Amino acid sequence: MGRRTFDDQPVRPIPNCFTIVVTSDTHLTDPNGLILEERSGSLLRTRSLTEAMTFVKEFEEVYIVGGRRIYEDSLQFVDELIITHVHSEDVVGDTHLNLFPEKGSLRDRNNDLWEVVRSHYHAKDDRHQFDYTIKYYKRVTLRTVFA
Ligand SMILES: NC(=O)c1ccc[n+]([C@@H]2O[C@H](COP(=O)([O-])OP(=O)(O)OC[C@H]3O[C@@H](n4cnc5c(N)ncnc54)[C@H](OP(=O)(O)O)[C@@H]3O)[C@@H](O)[C@H]2O)c1
Repeated sequence: MGRRTFDDQPVRPIPNCFTIVVTSDTHLTDPNGLILEERSGSLLRTRSLTEAMTFVKEFEEVYIVGGRRIYEDSLQFVDELIITHVHSEDVVGDTHLNLFPEKGSLRDRNNDLWEVVRSHYHAKDDRHQFDYTIKYYKRVTLRTVFA
């Protein structure tokens, strides 16, 4: 994840997972501003996405969780996208991302093709302000992730 996304996490370091944060900063901090110690197998800081990729080569599953530049730059490496589509026009947001530039097309910004393999609709309820659909996309265009 990018440093801004990490800084948005209410609990840092994030429990029960190995987190890599991409940043040019020299340290990461907890919500109280205290410098976090990097520990192998728990928290790591890298200067680039390429450097981060070298640490996850042997992992069976890796989740890339944003923000925008990380999503855009890593699109070429991933074989599955999990996207929550919120059914509302009222969400403004401060960061915008358009992986599929053409409306209605599943061709991504790199001109690769995707298909929706699963989709779950959820109606709004006490915990969710809007209806939403989680869609799972699989890459159709063949890519070699680690040559
Ligand atoms: N809806 C979602 O799925 C989702 C997911 C993630 C985040 N978000 C939201 O999006 C917002 C943050 O997104 P963002 O795109 O502005 O920030 P971001 O990608 O999380 O963080 C940006 C910072 O990460 C570092 N960085 C990112 N890409 C890099 C690269 N390729 N090489 C080197 N450093 C890199 C830089 O840190 P330094 O400045 O320290 O060098 C950069 O300033 C937050 O509000 C977050 O909550 C939403």
